[in-house]
Amino acid sequence: MKAAVYDHYGSPQVLQLKEVPKPIPKKNEILISIKATAVNSGDVRLRKADPFAVRFFFGLFKPKIKILGSVFSGEVESVGINVKLFKEGDQVFGHTTMSLGAYAEYICVPEDGSLALKPANIEHIQAAAIPFGGVTALYFIKKALLKEHQKILVVGASGAVGTAAIQLAKSYGAIATGVCSTANIDLVKSIGADHVIDYTKEDFTRNGEVYDLIFDTVNTISVSRSLRSLTKKGVMILSAAGMAQMFRGMWINTTTNRTVLMGVIRHNAEDISFLKKLIETDKFKPVIDRTYPIEQIAEAHAYVETGHKKGNIAINLRSNT
Ligand SMILES: NC(=O)c1ccc[n+]([C@@H]2O[C@H](COP(=O)([O-])OP(=O)(O)OC[C@H]3O[C@@H](n4cnc5c(N)ncnc54)[C@H](OP(=O)(O)O)[C@@H]3O)[C@@H](O)[C@H]2O)c1
Repeated sequence: MKAAVYDHYGSPQVLQLKEVPKPIPKKNEILISIKATAVNSGDVRLRKADPFAVRFFFGLFKPKIKILGSVFSGEVESVGINVKLFKEGDQVFGHTTMSLGAYAEYICVPEDGSLALKPANIEHIQAAAIPFGGVTALYFIKKALLKEHQKILVVGASGAVGTAAIQLAKSYGAIATGVCSTANIDLVKSIGADHVIDYTKEDFTRNGEVYDLIFDTVNTISVSRSLRSLTKKGVMILSAAGMAQMFRGMWINTTTNRTVLMGVIRHNAEDISFLKKLIETDKFKPVIDRTYPIEQIAEAHAYVETGHKKGNIAINLRSNT
């Protein structure tokens, strides 16, 4: 099968299209013919081994897993003898968690992995754009116990996590404000934001507004400054926190009535199914900036690395998807 393989950490050019053996499902696995995947900000970090800690989990000197890609949408081609949840021909989408391997024509995943039947009302290209940002935003918003009528501010509202956070907040009945650049105002309004703040013209930490939940997806403003805009018992989500922000967050958690949520999210089938239902009831739309064929995976990585994408970057694995 065709796959984008990398043998060394480095620039987008380390990704090379190669022929590799097609995987064979174990007893509890399903073999999926992948129609679409996506390049996410996390993939860039793995490709570059940035931060350095990536090497402790994915290979100290070179990547242990040669095929990147954590999201997929496709068709079940065959199933292992113990599989009960899925059958040949099912259209599924999901996340590989730490095992990766979705930049390929086929993948084997355990039937109880982080996957569900694809929403009937969207194509594979769109479905592949859901599990990264969608599950990340859902994981943190559920942990934050967001309630109806509460005010949430999403910093980085135009990214994969941000576009999902705005839409999930609206589905919870919250009042959502998105922080984005001038070029992304219309996009952020179109996905349901009640208010939009253009960070190139206005500093949200100085406008006097306070929020019950601040979801910072980009880590461009110091935690201390953001705290000015958080209610006294508010929750702050730092999905992009580095070590310094983590220590600051721990300090806030132990010394104040505020809560800071951070760390690596966990994927599960329940969250994928929850997102499927939201999509099928038109409460959640995948946001896709560009679609590349797998042959241009390096170009897709270079674009994601700019940090300016709008929503998601889909990768087409079959010309007829
Ligand atoms: N904790 C976890 O387990 C977990 C899971 C998934 C993702 N993450 C992290 O979450 C972060 C966000 O990921 P993502 O995939 O959503 O990123 P992304 O899609 O690359 O989005 C970044 C977006 O933020 C905008 N932006 C840049 N500077 C900004 C600023 N100062 N204020 C407001 N918006 C700004 C960019 O557009 P403009 O430049 O045009 O403004 C872009 O649309 C990443 O650091 C990722 O590693 C963490």
